[in-house]
Amino acid sequence: MGAIQKEVVCFRQVDKVYNTGTIALSQFDLSIREGEFISFLGPSGCGKSTALRMAAGLGNVTNGKVEVFGQDPKEVIRNTNDIAFVFQDANLLPWRSVLDNVLLPLELRGSDKKARKETAINALEMVGLKDYLKSYPRQLSGGMKMRVSIARALAAKPKMLLMDEPFAALDEMTRQTLQMDLLDIWKKENTSILFVTHNVYEAVYLSSRIAVMSARPGRLSKLIEVDLPYPRERTITRFNEYVEMASKSLEHSMGRRELV
Ligand SMILES: Nc1ncnc2c1ncn2[C@@H]1O[C@H](COP(=O)(O)OP(=O)(O)OP(=O)(O)O)[C@@H](O)[C@H]1O
Ligand SMILES: [Mg+2]
Repeated sequence: MGAIQKEVVCFRQVDKVYNTGTIALSQFDLSIREGEFISFLGPSGCGKSTALRMAAGLGNVTNGKVEVFGQDPKEVIRNTNDIAFVFQDANLLPWRSVLDNVLLPLELRGSDKKARKETAINALEMVGLKDYLKSYPRQLSGGMKMRVSIARALAAKPKMLLMDEPFAALDEMTRQTLQMDLLDIWKKENTSILFVTHNVYEAVYLSSRIAVMSARPGRLSKLIEVDLPYPRERTITRFNEYVEMASKSLEHSMGRRELV
């Protein structure tokens, strides 16, 4: 842990064995710094979602330890709004309006009604949906639903945002727009983001670091520090060098080739 940057998440030699006997994580070691945007990249089944779930205090580790802000993540979830989760599916309640969907987690925390509404509207404004407060999820496109889901996560002003393939179901244009918006929000809010993706370009575009994972058992196979300024230009040589580096690490993690 650096002297200047605080650590937000620490996976210390984590093993996760599900009750089916599947070893989802084995000796998984990773320390994530405050304000980082870190992507987990790896083949299907390598334990990316499991790692995120452990950071959210969902389920127990088999061996080792996960700490968030130096505490047990279950305690952080129980006592604060510091951790928020965005899933691949927007997971909106169809009978609630856009505004009411974003209000839901705030209602559960029981803050003042007027303040809650203001917070929810601000979050929706941040994702460009201020004109859709009264709409229902069925009236929105896939990208708009994902924006609502992101607004719902942001409304509680989390210190850490966990995102599990949030843009996987979206078309390329929508995905790229949301990627840009997410980076703007990340900068403005100074949140630490843990982001799962299968997409090498997405990982290089977004992340300050990429954790490449290998499957069976799920381990950290390489950490790539992406030393490119934001906003990133997808066409420059250095961007593509990082894409190639990440692709090679990914192939290596799948046992297809040796690292050069
Ligand atoms: N609740 C569960 N019970 C039993 N096994 C599970 C459970 N959840 C995940 N697994 C297994 O653990 C391994 C890791 O799963 P995980 O969902 O973390 O992978 P992933 O990297 O997120 O994959 P994907 O990219 O397909 O989403 C897989 O072999 C999976 O079958
Ligand atoms: Mg997954």
